[in-house]
Amino acid sequence: MSSRKKFIAGNWKMNKTSADGVTLVHDIVLAVGKQSDVEVVVCPPFTAIESVAKAVEGSEVKLGAQNMHFEASGAFTGEVSAPMLRALFATHVILGHSERRTIFGETDELVNKKVLAALKNQLRPIFCVGETLAERESGATLKVVQTQVERGLAGVGKDQAAGLILAYEPVWAIGTGKVATTEQAQEVHAFIRGLLTNLFSDLVAQKVRILYGGSMKPANAPELLAQKDIDGGLIGGASLEARSFVELVTAAIAAK
Ligand code: PGA
Repeated sequence: MSSRKKFIAGNWKMNKTSADGVTLVHDIVLAVGKQSDVEVVVCPPFTAIESVAKAVEGSEVKLGAQNMHFEASGAFTGEVSAPMLRALFATHVILGHSERRTIFGETDELVNKKVLAALKNQLRPIFCVGETLAERESGATLKVVQTQVERGLAGVGKDQAAGLILAYEPVWAIGTGKVATTEQAQEVHAFIRGLLTNLFSDLVAQKVRILYGGSMKPANAPELLAQKDIDGGLIGGASLEARSFVELVTAAIAAK
C-alpha cells in the first residue's frame, strides 16, 4: 500500500492507424474512462495522436507520445517537437525506450536533452531504463541502470523531479513473453528509488512513480503490482487490445 497513485500506460509502438486507434481507445474510455483511482495514459504513434485526443476528450484517459525531438522547431526532417505534442493535448512522452536506444542509436546524452526539453514544455517524461540479457548475466544490472538514471536525469531540478515517471524495462523481457520475477523487478525498483533519493531527496523519491515494463499481462500483473516499489506498468503487446489493457487497469485499481 502506498500513497502513490498507480499508473498504467499503453505503448502502442508502430501499431494502429488513426482509425484503428480511435476504435481501440473508444473501448478503453467506455470501460475505464470515468475512474480516477489509477492514472491511465495511451501512447499512440504520432499519426493517431490528434484523432485519439478527440476520442479521449472529457474522459480521465490521458495521451502520450512515444518520442520527440529536443528542439522546439527547425530543420530536423522527420522529427516532432514538444510544443507540437502539447498543441495536440499530449501530456506525457515516453523517452529513452530501449527500442529507441538500440535500433535508433539514442545515447544517454540525447535522452537527457529530451527529458529536459519535455519538462520545459510541461510534458511529463515516462523515462525508460533497463539492462540487456548479457548485462544481467554478467551481474551488471544495477550499474547499467544507475548510469542510465544518472545520465538521463542530469540537470533535472528538484522542483521538477516529482513529476517524472520512470519505467524499468529489462530489455530481455520486452516483447519476449519472459517477464522478470517479482523479486528481480522489486530489487531494481527499490534501487532506482534509492538513486532518486540520492539525486533529489527522499520526499521526491517517495512521490515518483516507477513502472515495470516487459511482457506485463493480466496474468502476471497482480503479483508485480503488489510489490512495494512497483507503481504501475508500461504495456506494449497487451495494450493493443482493449480487453487486456482494461484488465491491467482493473488489476492496478485492485492493487492500489
Ligand atoms: P511488451 O513491451 O509489453 O510488449 O513487452 C513493453 C514496452 O516495450 O514498453
